[in-house]
Amino acid sequence: MAVIGSGPAGIYTAEALVKQSAEDVRVDVLERLPTPYGLVRYGVAPDHTSIKSIANYLRRVLELPEVRFLGGVTLGTDLSVDDLLGHYDAVVYCTGAMVDRKLGIPGEDLPGSVAATDFVNWYCGHPDVDPGRFTLDTSEIAVIGVGNVAVDVVRVLAKTADDLRSTDVPHDVLQRLAESEVKAIHMVGRRGPEHAKFTLKELRELGDLANADVCVRPDEAVVLGGDFPRQVQGNIKVLQSWAAREPIGRPRRLDVRFWLRPVEILGTERVEGLKLERTRLSEEGRVVGTGEFETLPVGMVLRSVGYQSVPLPGVPFSERTMTVPNEAGRVRDREYVAGWLKRGPTGVIGTNKSDAAETVRTLLADLEGRERGASEPIDTLLAERGVRPVTYEEWLAIEAAEAELARSLGRGERVKLVGLEAMLRACRV
Ligand SMILES: Cc1cc2nc3c(=O)[nH]c(=O)nc-3n(C[C@H](O)[C@H](O)[C@H](O)COP(=O)(O)OP(=O)(O)OC[C@H]3O[C@@H](n4cnc5c(N)ncnc54)[C@H](O)[C@@H]3O)c2cc1C
Ligand SMILES: NC(=O)c1ccc[n+]([C@@H]2O[C@H](COP(=O)([O-])OP(=O)(O)OC[C@H]3O[C@@H](n4cnc5c(N)ncnc54)[C@H](OP(=O)(O)O)[C@@H]3O)[C@@H](O)[C@H]2O)c1
Repeated sequence: MAVIGSGPAGIYTAEALVKQSAEDVRVDVLERLPTPYGLVRYGVAPDHTSIKSIANYLRRVLELPEVRFLGGVTLGTDLSVDDLLGHYDAVVYCTGAMVDRKLGIPGEDLPGSVAATDFVNWYCGHPDVDPGRFTLDTSEIAVIGVGNVAVDVVRVLAKTADDLRSTDVPHDVLQRLAESEVKAIHMVGRRGPEHAKFTLKELRELGDLANADVCVRPDEAVVLGGDFPRQVQGNIKVLQSWAAREPIGRPRRLDVRFWLRPVEILGTERVEGLKLERTRLSEEGRVVGTGEFETLPVGMVLRSVGYQSVPLPGVPFSERTMTVPNEAGRVRDREYVAGWLKRGPTGVIGTNKSDAAETVRTLLADLEGRERGASEPIDTLLAERGVRPVTYEEWLAIEAAEAELARSLGRGERVKLVGLEAMLRACRV
């Protein structure tokens, strides 16, 4: 079996294939990066070390004798769908959702208007983004969206570089964070506190920031009606408690705003402001503008309004749902999908486990009674194309080099190596 992508969905799929299959099974996990774990490595915030430790569970799957990790292999450039179907009994696509959703407002493409995907990739040391990409040389920043990614981004901006010193943030990025001139961060939701997507635990953490006062306007914290799920009630309570407290002069200030939608990012050469319109819900429950405007004097706008998947060459894709159409994970004969590519960019890491298990149940039921295991390993084809996959042992060497780097810098357990070249140098002599 081939699993494409080594994020949580890919690795849980590999695990489910081994556990659920009554027959012997071998699974190749093909990954475009030299490193496994997808967003666990390049998404989960660096200061959320206990969540990051889920990698210790995922690594045990890659260490199963039935499973092989092949890093640095990209579906679409190194291999086609036909190549995969010619070498495996079945293929499961688990390539996640790696680009940002657009706001569709004027000024969105100005320098200083940044997708959260890029910013997160930056502080997580993703090889697609140069560590020199961002300079935090503005005193006010707006973050659009009130989901958990927005909360992560806000927290990283509000903390001091010292707070993040023991994390795996790349050293050049830590330097940029140390030089940050940010004084005020505005997190902006287009609906009310009762509609915010962040979860209670993540929200509470913002109130505990030693370096920032968290402010909510009392009029924006008002919520009508009361029959909300417990999580939402918790969010409302926390936000209302913040509305009742005064700032105490901490170096940074975080304003959590509601009922404001972005209408234009202002500026000529670069971002100079964000124009917002006050909103309300229409009778049908849609967000509508009230014609009342306000401008935030920000030099940077971080758009954190959700991720989306990209089509894989030769694989069906719905431009409406931005996912791969499937029935319980089945795409076409011998082709399957799991994770964010299957259901869209929602849910926590654990959600991908049950999702992958469903796909694997479908796959194994479809393959029952069919001849399996007749095809040649993919290795010869990859070698003919000059592709030398990064092995699991080579990934361990990258990890060891990251631990060594942390030791040499007097930082925590590891510091990310940035760039494909640095990673390959660390694992190949
Ligand atoms: C910024 C951020 C922070 C998050 N923090 C948390 C958190 O703290 N706790 C939590 O529970 N959940 C968190 N989540 C959600 C969680 O990360 C996702 O539920 C999960 O990662 C989705 O898994 P996936 O395998 O579908 O996608 P991904 O994790 O994105 O994995 C996809 C993998 O496919 C690879 N790939 C892509 N294209 C190709 C290709 N063409 N060929 C080969 N390989 C390819 C990618 O490199 C990647 O490794 C966070 C999400 C984001 C965006
Ligand atoms: N610690 C964690 O557990 C953690 C951390 C990070 C991410 N995650 C998970 O990863 C998933 C993705 O998170 P996410 O934050 O990217 O997405 P999300 O939860 O879907 O939040 C997106 C936010 O953007 C807003 N938005 C969308 N379009 C907008 C527009 N045009 N204008 C203004 N605002 C707009 C949404 O508002 P509306 O509601 O009004 O549409 C919402 O507030 C979630 O399931 C999340 O829980 C978990």
